[in-house]
Amino acid sequence: MAVKPKLVSAINDQIQAEFQSAYQYLAMAAWFEENNLQGFAHWMRLQWQEETNHAMKLYTHLMARGGTVALQAIKAPAKSFSSALQVFEQVRKHELAITERINVLYELAVKEKDLPLQIVLQWFINEQVEEEAVVEGIIDRLKLIGADGPSIYLLDRQLGARQAEGAGETA
Ligand SMILES: [Fe+2]
Ligand SMILES: [Fe+2]
Repeated sequence: MAVKPKLVSAINDQIQAEFQSAYQYLAMAAWFEENNLQGFAHWMRLQWQEETNHAMKLYTHLMARGGTVALQAIKAPAKSFSSALQVFEQVRKHELAITERINVLYELAVKEKDLPLQIVLQWFINEQVEEEAVVEGIIDRLKLIGADGPSIYLLDRQLGARQAEGAGETA
């Protein structure tokens, strides 16, 4: 079943939003690296990779359905921040906006009776639940240790241990 033009353009918009997320997280990785928080930087680099994977998941779906991928411009991301907590508060705000976008796109797929797209988007709906929870947990820990406490380095070590998605899996 070919994708309806209305959905092709909505999927292309979401591909842009995922690449925009990736770009934002890469800018955050650079900020952490400049501020000697290598674990946070590592976490953000993996986040950049994940968002790129999200964009490619939609790209692949659109291709498989005979739709045209039309890549859009990516804006320059925010690059200066005041603290690790402020960075993660921006991540939360950003992810909540993405969740809203995914929900609207899903509602459109339902309205247009596009079942394959609904299934792809169900994966994204789950992913957003997980991302929001992870970010919330990091914000809680940052608040607990305070902005400038030396314990930030303990959290930096924890985040530095994050593994790439699918790492350790055999398939
Ligand atoms: Fe994403
Ligand atoms: Fe995300």
